[in-house]
Amino acid sequence: MPDTTPMPDPLTIALQQIRGLIEAGQLQPAAQALNAVQKQAPTDARVPLVGMRLAQRAGNLAGATQAARRALALAPGWHVAQIELALLLAQQKQGDEAMQLAMQALAGAPKDSQVMVGAINVALFSERPEQTLAWAEDGVRRFPEDAGIRLFLARLLVALGRPRDAQAHYEYIHSRAPEHDETLRGLLSCAMKTGDHEKAAQWADRLFALRPGDANAQYWHAIAHGQTPETQPPEVVTGIFDDYAANFDLHLVRGLQYHVPERVAQILLEKHPNRKFNLLDLGCGTGLVGVYLGRIEGHIIGVDLSEKMIEQAARHGIYSRFHRVNVLDALRETPSEHYEAITCTDVLVYVGDLSPVIPNALRILKPGGHFIFSCEAAGEDEADLVLREKSNRYAHKASAVERQCREAGFDEVVIEDLPALRLEGGQPLPGFLVTARKPLAA
Ligand SMILES: C[S@@+](CC[C@H](N)C(=O)[O-])C[C@H]1O[C@@H](n2cnc3c(N)ncnc32)[C@H](O)[C@@H]1O
Repeated sequence: MPDTTPMPDPLTIALQQIRGLIEAGQLQPAAQALNAVQKQAPTDARVPLVGMRLAQRAGNLAGATQAARRALALAPGWHVAQIELALLLAQQKQGDEAMQLAMQALAGAPKDSQVMVGAINVALFSERPEQTLAWAEDGVRRFPEDAGIRLFLARLLVALGRPRDAQAHYEYIHSRAPEHDETLRGLLSCAMKTGDHEKAAQWADRLFALRPGDANAQYWHAIAHGQTPETQPPEVVTGIFDDYAANFDLHLVRGLQYHVPERVAQILLEKHPNRKFNLLDLGCGTGLVGVYLGRIEGHIIGVDLSEKMIEQAARHGIYSRFHRVNVLDALRETPSEHYEAITCTDVLVYVGDLSPVIPNALRILKPGGHFIFSCEAAGEDEADLVLREKSNRYAHKASAVERQCREAGFDEVVIEDLPALRLEGGQPLPGFLVTARKPLAA
């Protein structure tokens, strides 16, 4: 049969090539080519939309927003421009306008799954948890075979403390993709959360049989069979966070009312009102500490094991450099007296034992510098370090952490109780934030 697909017009081809350059990070040639195209087709709304991508890739959120507005002005009612602008506005906390645009886009393109995904993201970014859930459920009804939307809903349901509901969605995906790792892990985690140890062991065995050499599979296999690994292996951290980053981790965090990085940025700016300091952000993730801090007159160095999380963080253009290494290695290998501040938010829950962490943080700090980190709280009647069965995260006892800081040599240790570190299973998860100061030079 002859191929009857129409040839794309030259403008479409040129725009595709420019998008390729942007994706490859070749921003200078992309900008030149875009200028030329813009002269040829000044009223084509696709041109400013590619300009928006270019500005986004350059970390210029204001420029990207302007470009998306231009596209929408040229093509009012165009759902692609509506949803792109909505996403940008939601990221800038302009939730009302963002939600309105998302609703318009959904009404205009009810059969476009990308618009649905965009709208779900807009709701997440805009911190509308109920609408996020409602749109994710609607998305699964309208696009039952879209694994991305269904996986997102499953994760959201787990986060909302509804593992049984999540399980049904994971099972649906499993029936179509029986070897999909994240789905198998999801099924395993739902079984563990609902206390179905037999099923958990079965899913763990399945994962293990598929990937016997895989550290991830080994770790979950050990847990599902009642053992307690000492720490999470790097492969497990990367496995979890590479998946999250690719699928709206940042947004999920926001949906779960996670405000620790914002609080940490506030403390840093109280300590350094002139914004002159160098910061080492351990387990920087998607770069929320940097985002809340904004630009400083020093360097922010991000350390994280997950490449995908670092990619997200790099988009903000606030961090000077990233190192994709284990925080334990970074702590060991960084020279002494190098930073005015070190942050580590929601990371030590994966690291566990703090004995290699606290003394090295002290060593790396300059005199008078601060180590600011968050922990999930173990009760004072529990062990100093506890591995939580349901979440597989470590909780620390505040009094033990304070003692460790003082014994290492920090002279001022402030512990701020956080009754709701964030939500877990719809419930506040108690934690605490530590601000420990290295003594000033004698
Ligand atoms: C929950 S996120 C928190 C990210 C960020 N600090 C924040 O508060 O938004 C945890 C991050 O720590 C990273 N991480 C966990 N254990 C790590 C380790 N041992 N070494 C390096 N990064 C680690 C993960 O890859 C993930 O990006």
